[in-house]
Amino acid sequence: MERSRFLLSITLLLVHYSSIGIVGATQTDITTDQFALLALKSHITSDPHSILVNWSTTTSVCNWVGVTCGSRHLRVASLNLSYMGFTGTIPPHLGNLSFLVALSFNNNSFDGALPYQLSNLRRLKLISFGYNNFMGSIPSWFGSFPKLQSFNLYGSQFSGSIPMTIFNLSTLQVLNLRANQLSGGIPREIGNLTMLKEINLNSNNFNEIPKEIVFNMSSLTMLTLYGNSLSGGLPDNICQHLPSLQNLDLGLNQFDGPLPSKLWQCKELLILHLEENNFSGSIPKNIGNLTMMKEIYLDNNNLTGN
Ligand SMILES: *[C@@H]1O[C@H](CO)[C@@H](O)[C@H](O)[C@H]1NC(C)=O
Ligand SMILES: *[C@@H]1O[C@H](CO)[C@@H](O)[C@H](O)[C@H]1NC(C)=O
Ligand SMILES: *[C@@H]1O[C@H](CO)[C@@H](O)[C@H](O)[C@H]1NC(C)=O
Ligand SMILES: *[C@@H]1O[C@H](CO)[C@@H](O)[C@H](O)[C@H]1NC(C)=O
Ligand SMILES: *[C@@H]1O[C@H](CO)[C@@H](O)[C@H](O)[C@H]1NC(C)=O
Ligand SMILES: *[C@@H]1O[C@H](CO)[C@@H](O)[C@H](O)[C@H]1NC(C)=O
Ligand SMILES: *[C@@H]1O[C@H](CO)[C@@H](O)[C@H](O)[C@H]1NC(C)=O
Ligand SMILES: *[C@@H]1O[C@H](CO)[C@@H](O)[C@H](O)[C@H]1NC(C)=O
Ligand SMILES: *[C@@H]1O[C@H](CO)[C@@H](O)[C@H](O)[C@H]1NC(C)=O
Ligand SMILES: *[C@@H]1O[C@H](CO)[C@@H](O)[C@H](O)[C@H]1NC(C)=O
Repeated sequence: MERSRFLLSITLLLVHYSSIGIVGATQTDITTDQFALLALKSHITSDPHSILVNWSTTTSVCNWVGVTCGSRHLRVASLNLSYMGFTGTIPPHLGNLSFLVALSFNNNSFDGALPYQLSNLRRLKLISFGYNNFMGSIPSWFGSFPKLQSFNLYGSQFSGSIPMTIFNLSTLQVLNLRANQLSGGIPREIGNLTMLKEINLNSNNFNEIPKEIVFNMSSLTMLTLYGNSLSGGLPDNICQHLPSLQNLDLGLNQFDGPLPSKLWQCKELLILHLEENNFSGSIPKNIGNLTMMKEIYLDNNNLTGN
């Protein structure tokens, strides 16, 4: 009795595993990728340069324009449809491109909802949907890419605040959300992203920044916050923990108070924008020993002296 029940459960276990095996097998097939990309093609309503003519079953998927396959798995590893003039929407089927590492759709006219099925793409390192017509909130499932290095949603009409899930992307190096209508505070949790090199939040409506966190992210090479509603004074030691900073842009905000006296500590600085604020007092003399500096903008403030 015991023995037959044991054998029965073994059998059930085997049936269970083999059905998982079958599901797994269909997922490791290039025809899944082909099916997903043909679904995308059918959601593209305008292709003014006839780019998609060879996206057909008579041509191998890996030779389709914009598609690159990985050499190891022979599955779609990169989909780059940037600057192709497309209009359309993104179908959920793209979430089946399970070997995708890079997804670039910059400078097209995609709109509609970004399907949450994209969050299945666990291998993604690059997401770039810059300059399209997306609107609404940034979906919170963007926080679920364990390998993401570069996240670009600039130039659409995203609004609302940055979803907290984004600060779970511990491998992130580039965060570019510029030219949207995002608002609220930049959360303190941005400090969790210890590999960040570039933060670009220009041209939004952010009204608060955790200065003691952001000006302490020593991995940063670029911090650009131009054209927001940020206010208050800058810490005098703004550069103490930013040894690699090359581009600092705080222009067109409502910062006030004196310029930090120790800007010279940002020794790698190439570009400094502090114009269109309400800084007062004099320009620190030792700013002149930033020998790498190429561009300094201080106009339209309330600075005095020679
Ligand atoms: C598909 O079209 C592109 C651009 O027109 C071309 O470079 C590529 O060779 C074509 N692929 C095939 C297999 O014809
Ligand atoms: C995508 O294609 C564009 C235009 O061909 C190119 O400039 C860009 O570097 C490519 N991006 C990636 C991530 O390959
Ligand atoms: C891929 O995704 C779509 C929509 O999310 C789904 O309907 C389809 O069955 C999926 N699987 C395969 C193997 O194409
Ligand atoms: C991309 O789109 C933006 C906004 O429409 C435009 O300013 C920019 O010149 C475009 N870039 C290219 C390379 O077409
Ligand atoms: C945060 O990351 C962990 C580990 O990568 C993951 O298990 C979890 O689902 C993520 N949480 C959110 C809210 O995305
Ligand atoms: C940020 O890091 C802190 C401390 O490690 C952790 O408690 C918190 O959950 C993290 N927040 C997010 C949004 O990942
Ligand atoms: C960075 O953090 C340290 C330690 O918490 C603190 O003493 C310092 O003032 C911070 N720097 C800035 C610019 O806020
Ligand atoms: C600039 O700051 C001064 C105080 O230093 C204040 O009197 C003035 O109202 C501020 N101007 C603007 C435009 O915020
Ligand atoms: C730059 O100026 C500061 C303050 O006057 C000084 O301590 C520092 O040694 C100078 N650095 C160089 C490289 O001259
Ligand atoms: C410049 O600063 C002075 C003194 O703090 C203040 O009275 C004046 O309103 C400021 N000017 C502007 C344009 O903010």
